[in-house]
Amino acid sequence: MCGIVGYIGYREAYPIVIKGLKRLEYRGYDSAGVMIYDGESIKLSKTKGKVADLEERASKEITTNGTIGIGHTRWATHGVPNDVNSHPHLSNSGDLVIIHNGIIENYAPLKVELIKRGYVFHSDTDTEVLVNLIEEVQKKENIKLGKAVQIALNQVVGAYAIAVFDKKNPDEIVAARLGSPLAIGIGEGEYFIASDASPFIEYTSNAVYLEDGEMAVIRLHKEMKVRKIKDDSLVNPIIQELQMNLEQIEKGGYDHFMLKEIYEQPSVIKDTYRGRLHANEGIIQMAGVEDNLEKFLNADRIIIVACGTSWHAGLVAEYIFEEFARISVEVEYASEFRYRNPIINSKDVVIAISQSGETADTMAAIKLAKEQGAFVFGVCNVVGSSISRETHAGAYTHAGPEIGVASTKAFTTQITVLTMIALRLAKAKGTLSQSDFHMYLQELELIPEKVREALETNDKAKEIAETFKDAPNCLYLGRGYNFPVALEGALKLKEISYIHAEGYPAAEMKHGPIALIDEQMPVVVIAPKQGHYDKIVSNIQEIKSRSGRIIAVVTKGDTQVRELADYVIEIPETSDALSPLITTIPLQLLSYHIAVLRGCNVDQPRNLAKSVTVE
Ligand code: F6R
Repeated sequence: MCGIVGYIGYREAYPIVIKGLKRLEYRGYDSAGVMIYDGESIKLSKTKGKVADLEERASKEITTNGTIGIGHTRWATHGVPNDVNSHPHLSNSGDLVIIHNGIIENYAPLKVELIKRGYVFHSDTDTEVLVNLIEEVQKKENIKLGKAVQIALNQVVGAYAIAVFDKKNPDEIVAARLGSPLAIGIGEGEYFIASDASPFIEYTSNAVYLEDGEMAVIRLHKEMKVRKIKDDSLVNPIIQELQMNLEQIEKGGYDHFMLKEIYEQPSVIKDTYRGRLHANEGIIQMAGVEDNLEKFLNADRIIIVACGTSWHAGLVAEYIFEEFARISVEVEYASEFRYRNPIINSKDVVIAISQSGETADTMAAIKLAKEQGAFVFGVCNVVGSSISRETHAGAYTHAGPEIGVASTKAFTTQITVLTMIALRLAKAKGTLSQSDFHMYLQELELIPEKVREALETNDKAKEIAETFKDAPNCLYLGRGYNFPVALEGALKLKEISYIHAEGYPAAEMKHGPIALIDEQMPVVVIAPKQGHYDKIVSNIQEIKSRSGRIIAVVTKGDTQVRELADYVIEIPETSDALSPLITTIPLQLLSYHIAVLRGCNVDQPRNLAKSVTVE
């Protein structure tokens, strides 16, 4: 969590750092800060609040220009969000400045030691301990910043992406990473440092992504040196060409990134299957699957590990894999899996799903599965992310940057990838009839158009949002393939509108949650024509008899549910297995409009951050 930005070159650093922080604000937004070195002194400005608040404050506090700067947007871990705990942090001498994304787990004993040696701490952060530890090493050994950072990091336990500046040697920035992402943009006579490449996309398309355990000494007018933190060995950094463009990371006329990303789904789902799905020829192929087909075919079971929305996509995949490919699937919260001594063996295939590719718990689950001999396959969106590199093979979702904190297009593209894998395995195993296999391929190809149609429910979703925007609670019900969609619908609502919402398998209602139903309780029921339609109609009747207010997502032309529901949202028909790709669309729109009407910050909901790089 947290976003870090740095610049060293010939341009004015302040606007680059501030613009970069705005692009990284999705990573954390409870406080922000900036440091500019103007050739003589360090100018620092930091504040609780968003980058816009920082800009206002910095306009008064940073009055000189400089071509070196670093900045930070925070998601608090140690210490409440306030001005003092905001980064950058200064060392006691005032010479060293640091920004940090991650957690220093052993900060407490280090702090005690430093206090004994006379250091004074102003904040409650682990980061201020790290910068003073670096200073202490530097003083004791009388060495340059790079070496001091390296020695200090070897004493540290935890995760970090850091950038450190030393006023005594002002033509360099030292950056390092372990467990938190760090990209370095390489321009002509200038370098950029950031948590992802978005802050420097308009300046250079060349970037080096530091690997875990690497540090870089970035000197003005010199070649950057990358080393292993542990043993000091030099690394030849691989310069990658960036795939992102500016348009992708801007709002493009939409009020919020979330809405833009909801509307991108028809095109990004197409991007997901482009070149992989050839419905007319009956071909479905993904390099990562083809190269490891035997592993999938010989698997005793598939274990899916993920968090949040990605976990919901995993649940949908469980239904799909078991039905199409007849492989037993277990879906695990990565955070539970990693700590519960799970039974894993070399005939297991583990699929890790992650939009960001940086989620700490998912990463730890992958490492555990690898240690125990499983083959690990990644389904990630961010190209070159830590998870995409840590897994043995994988398939990207190609959804493009997802900036709204609430996941939307990541969910549908993950399901698309997982469906394609299941279909490929079904073909190899002969577990689907030829005609069903072809039918699913054709149906999948039609999904983008059907998503486009489903987006036409926007006005209806807005109208319903007006009615229910003040509801304190909401229930979401679905069955079969649409049970995970109910969970996802509830998550979307609670995370962006702060309305308490629960998703349930519709039939579980009578085992408890039905007690919640009264005339105040909105119940969103996902009831497409296929699947367990009759059963869900009965569930709707049970809600109706208890005066619940029913919002039903139904297939176009449905008459039966219409008679029972207070509101219906009609979506185009598709097969049961693919229906989550469509039914989820009006639920995304409904949450969006409710959050907007409640005046919530849709793209940056409170307490959240886009990539959860701490456990
Ligand atoms: C919810 C949401 C989160 C993420 C979760 C996993 O809208 O975005 O629940 O799905 O933090 O993130 P990734 O997929 O990046 O591993």
